[in-house]
Amino acid sequence: MSAGRIRPPGGALLLIVAVIALAGAAALAVIAQMPSRPAPGATLQPANAPLARAEAGRPAPATAIPTTANPEVIPEIGAAPLFVAFEGDPRAGQRAVMGAASGGPDAACFKCHGVAGEGDSVGAFPRLAGQPAYYLYRQLTSFADGRRPHDIMSPIAAQMTEQERRDAAAYYAAARAPFRPLPPGDPKLLQLGGRIAIAGSQARGVQACVGCHGPDGLGVPPDTPYLAGQDAAYMEAQLQRWSEGRRDTDPLGVMADIARRLSPQERQWVVRYFAALPPPAS
Ligand code: HEC
Ligand code: HEC
Repeated sequence: MSAGRIRPPGGALLLIVAVIALAGAAALAVIAQMPSRPAPGATLQPANAPLARAEAGRPAPATAIPTTANPEVIPEIGAAPLFVAFEGDPRAGQRAVMGAASGGPDAACFKCHGVAGEGDSVGAFPRLAGQPAYYLYRQLTSFADGRRPHDIMSPIAAQMTEQERRDAAAYYAAARAPFRPLPPGDPKLLQLGGRIAIAGSQARGVQACVGCHGPDGLGVPPDTPYLAGQDAAYMEAQLQRWSEGRRDTDPLGVMADIARRLSPQERQWVVRYFAALPPPAS
C-alpha cells in the first residue's frame, strides 16, 4: 500500500484519507444522478457561477475540468457527459462593455447592444440581457474562430482575450433590461407562427421550437438561448444564415436542418410570434 511509504503514516492519517475518499465517491454518485437536462424555464445559477458543459466532439481542455462544486451535466447526443467549466466575472465584464478592454473604445459593446443588453428595435443588434452566459460566451468564441463569421462581431470578438469573452458574457447574462414590445402584428399570422412554435410542423418534419427553447421561448441554460422578445429581423437573419450554412455554432446541429425545412414565410411567422413574447430578465 502506497500510504505505507508516508512516514509516519499514523492510524489517524489513514482514517482521514479513507473519509476523504468516501466523501469523493458519494459526491460523484450524486452528480451521476443529476437530471440530464434542466427543467424547462428553470434558472440554474448566477451568471458568474461555474457552468458545466459538454462540447460535441470537442474534447474539453484539461484545465477546464472543474474540481469544485456546482457542475451541471449535459449529455451530448452520442457522447458521454463531460464537465466543462464556465467562469466569468460580470464586474470585470463591464470593462469590455464600456470600451476599456483589449478592443478599446471602438469595441465598446454598449454602443450597439446597450449598457443593459437591451439591443435595439430596428433589428440590427440583438438583445443580450439575461441570455445564458455560456451561450453568449460560445457565440463570442464562434465569432472569433470563424464558425460564425460576421463583419462587425468577428473582429471585435477576435480582439478580446479568452477571459474578456467570459467576463462580457457573464455581464450580459446578469443584466436586466426593459422590454419594449413592438405593436402586435396581424393576429392571423401570429397564430400561424405560434402553431409552429408550440406544435412544430408535421408537414415539414419540424419539431416544436419550445421543446428546446423552453415554454414561451424563455431559453434553457446553459446552451439554448431565449427567443422571447428577441428581435424578429435578427432571428430571421439567423435562420437564413443557418439555411445557407453560414452559421456553424449549434452544438446539436439541429438549427440548420430546421431552418432549411421551413419556408421563408414560415420562418417569418414563427420569429414574429416569439418576438412578441416578454423575454426573461425584463
Ligand atoms: C458596432 C456594433 C457592435 C458592437 C460594438 C458590438 N456588437 Fe455584438 N453584435 C452586433 C451585431 C450587428 C450582431 C448580430 C450579428 C449577427 O447578425 O449574426 C451582434 C451579435 C452579438 C452576439 C450574438 C447574440 C446572439 O443572440 O447570438 C453577442 C454575444 C455579442 N454581439 C456580444 C457583443 C459584445 C460582448 C460586445 C462588446 C465586446 C459587442 N457584441 C459589441 C453589433 C455589435
Ligand atoms: C432540438 C433543439 C432545438 C429546436 C427544436 C429548435 N431550436 Fe433553435 N436553437 C437551439 C440551440 C441549441 C440554439 C443555439 C445554437 C448556437 O449555439 O448557436 C438555437 C438557436 C436558435 C436561434 C438563434 C438565437 C440567437 O440569439 O442567435 C434561433 C433564431 C432559433 N434557434 C429559432 C428556432 C425556431 C424558430 C425553432 C422552431 C421552428 C427552433 N429554434 C427549434 C435548439 C433548438
